[in-house]
Amino acid sequence: MTQNAQTDDRSEANEAQIAVHWKEEKTFQPSAEFIQQANLTDPTVRQRFGEDNFPECFREYADMLTWFKPYDTVLDASNPPFWKWFTGGKLNASYNCIDRHLDQYRNKAAFLFVAEPEDETPVAMTYQELYVRVNEMAALLRDFCGLKAGDRVTLHLPMTLDLPITMLACARLGVIHSQVFGGFSGQSCGSRIQDSGSRVLISTDAYWRSGKLIDHKINADIAVKVAEEAGQHVDQVLIWQRYPGKFSSPTPMVEGRDHFVNDLLKNYAGQRVDPVPMDAEAPLFLMYSSGTTGKPKGCQHRTGGYLAYVAGTSKYIQDIHPTDTYWCMADIGWITGHSYIVYGPLLLAATSVVYEGTPTYPDVRRPWRIAERLGVNIFHTSPTAVRALRRAGPEEPRKCNHRFKHMTTVGEPIEPSAWQWYYDEIGKGQAVIVDTWWQTENGGFLCSTIPALDAMKPGSAGPGLPGIYPVIYDDDGNEIAAGSGRAGNLCIRNPWPGIMQTVWGNDQRFIDTYYKPYCRNPDSKDWRDWPYMSGDGAMLAADGYFRILGRLDDVINVSGHRLGTKEIESACMTVPEVAEAAVVPVSDEVKGKVPEVYVSLTPDATDAAAAAQHVIQACETIIGKIARPQNVYVVHDMPKTRSGKIMRRVLASISNGLDVGDVTTLANSEVVEDIKRTVQNARKQA
Ligand code: WTA
Repeated sequence: MTQNAQTDDRSEANEAQIAVHWKEEKTFQPSAEFIQQANLTDPTVRQRFGEDNFPECFREYADMLTWFKPYDTVLDASNPPFWKWFTGGKLNASYNCIDRHLDQYRNKAAFLFVAEPEDETPVAMTYQELYVRVNEMAALLRDFCGLKAGDRVTLHLPMTLDLPITMLACARLGVIHSQVFGGFSGQSCGSRIQDSGSRVLISTDAYWRSGKLIDHKINADIAVKVAEEAGQHVDQVLIWQRYPGKFSSPTPMVEGRDHFVNDLLKNYAGQRVDPVPMDAEAPLFLMYSSGTTGKPKGCQHRTGGYLAYVAGTSKYIQDIHPTDTYWCMADIGWITGHSYIVYGPLLLAATSVVYEGTPTYPDVRRPWRIAERLGVNIFHTSPTAVRALRRAGPEEPRKCNHRFKHMTTVGEPIEPSAWQWYYDEIGKGQAVIVDTWWQTENGGFLCSTIPALDAMKPGSAGPGLPGIYPVIYDDDGNEIAAGSGRAGNLCIRNPWPGIMQTVWGNDQRFIDTYYKPYCRNPDSKDWRDWPYMSGDGAMLAADGYFRILGRLDDVINVSGHRLGTKEIESACMTVPEVAEAAVVPVSDEVKGKVPEVYVSLTPDATDAAAAAQHVIQACETIIGKIARPQNVYVVHDMPKTRSGKIMRRVLASISNGLDVGDVTTLANSEVVEDIKRTVQNARKQA
């Protein structure tokens, strides 16, 4: 199997070890109060969405949308794995998120924006106001930029309302938005501009982060240059202003190329743009995600299936009602934010909170002050945030009068003790918790408990969602039985509406990455022969709950954000002194995993400390601060197989303080002790 070949010499999660230490956790039940108000209380829902009713069961989700033209077929699976959902149907994402709510909810807040500086009063943007802004922005994109359905536009925006306004304006025209996480570097943005073929970049002058007003305009200049060098010309750069009418960046505007959005918008005041009826299968957006090899891939999400899936899961798993105030503390630049800050909540006419800054600014009580002030009753965050908040102030949530009915954790495995603190202290023992497992590729949640129906089990995501049929395969494609205590590859046997359409511009990569490993017959036209491989290791307990162990491939999950080890290694290799580089994931108390880097230097490199510093800089500049290695170890030689491959597994063991195991197969086993000493010395000094 291809996957084996790739992971052989790489650092794998040591599943066997984890499994041995895994004890069954006790379960928790949702409160009667929660159940009484919940959207989904039908205990037969998993039958309703069972294989006998597949794929027709997903009509239930599609019917949560307003269609300009009804669809003919729920699933066209005639060309696996290129599934088509709700074919023949036409709809518009912006219409579904905004226009259709106006009669009933015109003056209800769609978004509540909280700036990082606490002296800036939170801003409520009603559905009516959002409608006006999105229309004006759509008019600008259409008439000033000449954009039309099917064009791609790259957004590199931070967490202000300019971001969802821009996304929805694109969607109104059928323009495919590709938002790059604001914390990524200009270079990262540039390579995504090139890959997506965008000729327009939409960015901003500045934003607040940890008490600093950060210059972001500079990243736009870098991005355009990098894209240009890679062969993609950007002719227009639109710059939002953090404070409209004022330029908050020291980086000058480029005459003829750069334009202030707020100036241009004046020309489109009061304009209305008809939402363009899009095919259900028309791409809605691209979201780049790290993978095993090479550059990040553009996960291409469709309009109809994606929106149906996020509407259904927001309603049933997030339990969102139009009366709820919902806060997902993720960044809109990640898939969680697209699905569960913008599209999902708005499809259900909820009020969604957008917070600009870091959760711990200016102190660790900030999230609870925000929740209390805004009356947030549904809260959604990552285990990393939970761990960070717990560590910095375990008693803090108690001091605030927030009250959640529902809480979500997403992005990485949560250990039972962190789960318990989340439940007791943040949820005050009253809120249900859903631990939602899914990926950028998936559009929406795949495994989770149903909040009013299933018991919660700390550390386990739960069963497959209605209409999702997960399975664990061993490396040979045999199913691993529930309760066997063995881990394997978590796969989904069936297609679902939220699955990405393809890798932008690279169908083969889509097949190879997700479907080739477990495809039973490449000529088959039956979806049952085409299970989706997630790349995660997992175990299935006897009660049908999945416990996710982490990535089996070369992806490091830093604070719930995916980074490819190969991407980081390539960044390290741009440093002239570096001869070889290997990146391994190291367990971290707060962030889950962090990257550590091993480098060997070229013979003429003399200053090891300087080289290590250059490696750190390279990671930050090429990828972003999030890729900053925790440590860079300069070693004389890498542990290698006889065929010359670097044994990352050995390095990962050293970094994690684990037994390196059998190293006799190495061509140079003597270097292992040497490297161990280097690491020990470096850590002593730190
Ligand atoms: C991990 C984020 C354990 C997993 C939505 C997956 C999780 C990767 C969970 C996707 C969870 C996500 N428990 N691990 N509840 N949710 N993961 O693409 O390894 O940024 O493959 O999507 O995060 O990360 P991505």
